[in-house]
Amino acid sequence: MVNYQFSSMATRLRRTEIRELLKLTRLPDTISFGGGLPDPAIFPYAAVEAAAERAIKENGRLALQYSPTEGEPFLKEQIAAFTERQGEKLSAEELLVVSSSQQGLDLLAKLFIDESAPIIIERPTYVGTIQAFRAFGADFHGVDMDDDGIIPDHLERTIIPLVDSGRKPRFIYLIPDFQNPSGRNLSLERRHEILRLASRYDLPIIEDSPYRELRFSGSLLPSLRSLDTEGRVIQLKTLSKIFCPGFRLGWIAAPPLVLEKLVMAKQGTDLCSSAYVSMVTAYLLLDHHVDRQITISRDLYERKAAVMLAALERCMPKVDGLNWSKPDGGMFLWLHLPEYMDTKAMLLEAVDERVAYVIGSCFYTDGSGRSEMRLNYSYPTEEQIVIGIERLARLVRKRMADKVPVRR
Ligand SMILES: Cc1ncc(COP(=O)(O)O)c(C=O)c1O
Repeated sequence: MVNYQFSSMATRLRRTEIRELLKLTRLPDTISFGGGLPDPAIFPYAAVEAAAERAIKENGRLALQYSPTEGEPFLKEQIAAFTERQGEKLSAEELLVVSSSQQGLDLLAKLFIDESAPIIIERPTYVGTIQAFRAFGADFHGVDMDDDGIIPDHLERTIIPLVDSGRKPRFIYLIPDFQNPSGRNLSLERRHEILRLASRYDLPIIEDSPYRELRFSGSLLPSLRSLDTEGRVIQLKTLSKIFCPGFRLGWIAAPPLVLEKLVMAKQGTDLCSSAYVSMVTAYLLLDHHVDRQITISRDLYERKAAVMLAALERCMPKVDGLNWSKPDGGMFLWLHLPEYMDTKAMLLEAVDERVAYVIGSCFYTDGSGRSEMRLNYSYPTEEQIVIGIERLARLVRKRMADKVPVRR
């Protein structure tokens, strides 16, 4: 037996519960509200095939070669033009192409997090962020949210004692648009307030925004980055939710000093993102296929969200403590059960009922969220959504009726 001497980072790595639990949801006949997956029925197969052919025919020598760490210049120009079509300003020089936003999170952790460094997150927040930041030893400080997103008062009350004790947070991490997992959207007023607070305490903001464009109605809210006049917002974008996660393609928009360091951090990670995927993506963006895909996804997910909301309304018992969010966009809905119900303990029974969800506690760093769950509506079909919610409601009623101790 080799006596490996693992790094302190390796000792902090943990299997994420969510990935383990999601394995259960792959059982046949199980309807999964678990993953954060787009609907593969609408993937633009023909457009991707044509762009792939074009990438090789017209630019094969670049597509099959290493590319600059910053990203393939043709792609960067197309990302800038796409961003402009979405109503925001971005120049090719301000961005770094990454292998989707998960890599961006890891690179930002490399840049900003030392062991025990305080950072600020929303409660709840994206499980992959917790995983990426925890590996570097982050000391998480969670701030409560309500229907308008993170609460500025709570944020300030979290910042002050840290600053007063000489432990200024390294950054504030936010998912302002149709947040994962809660589906909540940060209001315009609060976007301004958060920026004011960040400025008062001189804190950078990491704005992670994979779902912004998936808004069902009304106009898009300006991103924090677009409202920032001080160069304190670092923005993560990805094609995973608005196009195809299989591309593993995203970008970080950041002020020059941060960008320079990110490029060096990425060099040590993978030298560059795939030039081939970059070239294919550039042609798809050039022909506005991503824009079209956004419209298609938005319409479909709006319909599916409505089906899920109607099924919940119809099937769930009307009792205190049982309620759910009503998303205006994105892929998720957040469900609160009465406090005596434990969604982790219930999951095995749910899988017996052949329905799956993600347990709430995965999205917290402090052990809360026991009676909460995340439901995804983008992946299952409309028919599956109805049947799955019926199954879930049956389980909830059973818990309520007999209040038997849940199986552990
Ligand atoms: C808020 C948030 N950030 C980042 C990611 C990672 O996405 P990807 O690496 O596919 O871009 C996800 C995926 O679910 C997410 O919800």
